[in-house]
Amino acid sequence: MNTGSTNTGKLAGRVAIVTGAGNGLGAECARVLAVHGAQVVVVDIDGAAAITVSESLAVHGVGSMALRVDVSSEEEVEDMVIQIKRRFGRIDVLHNNAAVLNVEQRQRDRDICNLDMAAFDRAIAVNLRGAVLCSKYAIPVMLENKSGSVIFATSGLGMQGDLSLSGYATSKAALMMLPKLIAAQYGKQGIRANAVQIGLAPAENAHASMPAELLEIIRDNHLTPELGTPRQIADVVAFLASDESSFVTGTTLVADGGFSSHTPSLVAMRALFEKLGRAGM
Ligand SMILES: NC(=O)c1ccc[n+]([C@@H]2O[C@H](COP(=O)([O-])OP(=O)(O)OC[C@H]3O[C@@H](n4cnc5c(N)ncnc54)[C@H](O)[C@@H]3O)[C@@H](O)[C@H]2O)c1
Repeated sequence: MNTGSTNTGKLAGRVAIVTGAGNGLGAECARVLAVHGAQVVVVDIDGAAAITVSESLAVHGVGSMALRVDVSSEEEVEDMVIQIKRRFGRIDVLHNNAAVLNVEQRQRDRDICNLDMAAFDRAIAVNLRGAVLCSKYAIPVMLENKSGSVIFATSGLGMQGDLSLSGYATSKAALMMLPKLIAAQYGKQGIRANAVQIGLAPAENAHASMPAELLEIIRDNHLTPELGTPRQIADVVAFLASDESSFVTGTTLVADGGFSSHTPSLVAMRALFEKLGRAGM
């Protein structure tokens, strides 16, 4: 993990919730927000992982709090916001990062004809309903200060058809509507909302769990030399969390190394040109 972030203080005094922050991108977002001075609430269904990440933020000299929450549960989310309000008195940033992505879920969330409906329902419940619930309870606290930034983690799979992960893709597509709704409904009261459409940016320990051949196919479809890193995504989240993006709302910011911006034939064409000896195309 890259630890080279510079403290700009651009989030000093802010209180940020990051859901699903016990691992992966969420953990890195929590770290980068803390580096910029935010007090971070580390929320995860894995309470032990949340505590580990929260404790690691102490080196940045900011307050932090770990909460074990299943974001698909309205009772738990409501209680989460009560606890945060009691401890910090305010909420400035909500990053809806949590998603159910474990191996078992991925194996059951397949193409439509072979879809395990329990896996589909869980994807919708966690990825979509969870983000709606966290917004529903956090925004009223933001409104007390007439200021807040709500962020959603989405994916190219919410934009483009693929062979599997039907529930995941459907949930991510719906997440792109939420920033527009929140911006329209609460923008005049100081609330901004945006999504980040993320390309493949695996945590370092996630590389090993993905077949090399698969990684290569996906890398070929990014227009950057390499796949993304959690730090690159966390930097975008920190931008959306801060006043640097004060005129950005109701939109989806694409941070995907060009994955979604090229012609479907590009990779095959590049290979053809290389075969024909026209390297460098
Ligand atoms: N890593 C990538 O390359 C990539 C690409 C596109 C989009 N994304 C999105 O970024 C986000 C983070 O992805 P990641 O790769 O770090 O995933 P991850 O699986 O490493 O982390 C997800 C976290 O969410 C937590 N979680 C799962 N269910 C929960 C629930 N019900 N309540 C609270 N927490 C719960 C998990 O315990 C885990 O800590 C996701 O929304 C994902 O869709 C990631």
